[in-house]
Amino acid sequence: MSTLLRIDSSPRSNSISRELTDVFVAEYAANNPGTKVIIRDLVATPPPFVTEEWISNSFAPADQQDLKVLALSNELTDEFLAADIIVIGMPMYNFGVPANVKAWIDQIVRAGRTFGFGENGIVGLAGGRKIVSLISRNGAFKEGEPAGPWNHQEVYLSHLAGLLGITETYAVAVQSRSQYDRLPEFKQEAFAEIKALVERLSGSAIAAVA
Ligand SMILES: Cc1cc2nc3c(=O)[nH]c(=O)nc-3n(C[C@H](O)[C@H](O)[C@H](O)COP(=O)(O)O)c2cc1C
Repeated sequence: MSTLLRIDSSPRSNSISRELTDVFVAEYAANNPGTKVIIRDLVATPPPFVTEEWISNSFAPADQQDLKVLALSNELTDEFLAADIIVIGMPMYNFGVPANVKAWIDQIVRAGRTFGFGENGIVGLAGGRKIVSLISRNGAFKEGEPAGPWNHQEVYLSHLAGLLGITETYAVAVQSRSQYDRLPEFKQEAFAEIKALVERLSGSAIAAVA
């Protein structure tokens, strides 16, 4: 049985990225019966920015940490580590991830829990998981497209995943929302991509168990 952590970050009631996470989670659950879904809505409960107190505690030895200061960070990190697959629905904001997603990342990149220090530098401790980014944005930011070099969202998430030892990252994006007449078509394309991705990930999950 797999555990899926669903993260949503758009504040909009007509959010496209939330539609993408809806579709992904439904498809994944249908393909992987018994999947446990953990929901984390970063708009309903925005993670705070880290503080000086947070930093000193998170880098202290485990038996010297003030657990009250790290309570939320530990809860978010537990959720992250409990999941085999982490699905992040998000808009592109100013070429990158929205601030609530960045704040969540800062809470779950934890020394001794999701990364450690080895002889040759940082080692990821969260390997074996998959991260799926489901993105909505206006511009043409795919590889080879005009704004491709300014896509600091997908590249950033791949680098971040690498820090944690996660090598499997995927992204599906709906683009050009401002072309309202073509939006249904763009969404259908993304839904089809999600369906194909879920089939691929479900296939590899079955192969890994067999
Ligand atoms: C503050 C802000 C910044 C944005 N920055 C970008 C951007 O850099 N590139 C882009 O293509 N779209 C940008 N957009 C457009 C959103 O990514 C787009 O409206 C998207 O559909 C929002 O996702 P949602 O429908 O899930 O809320 C921005 C929108 C807002 C509100």
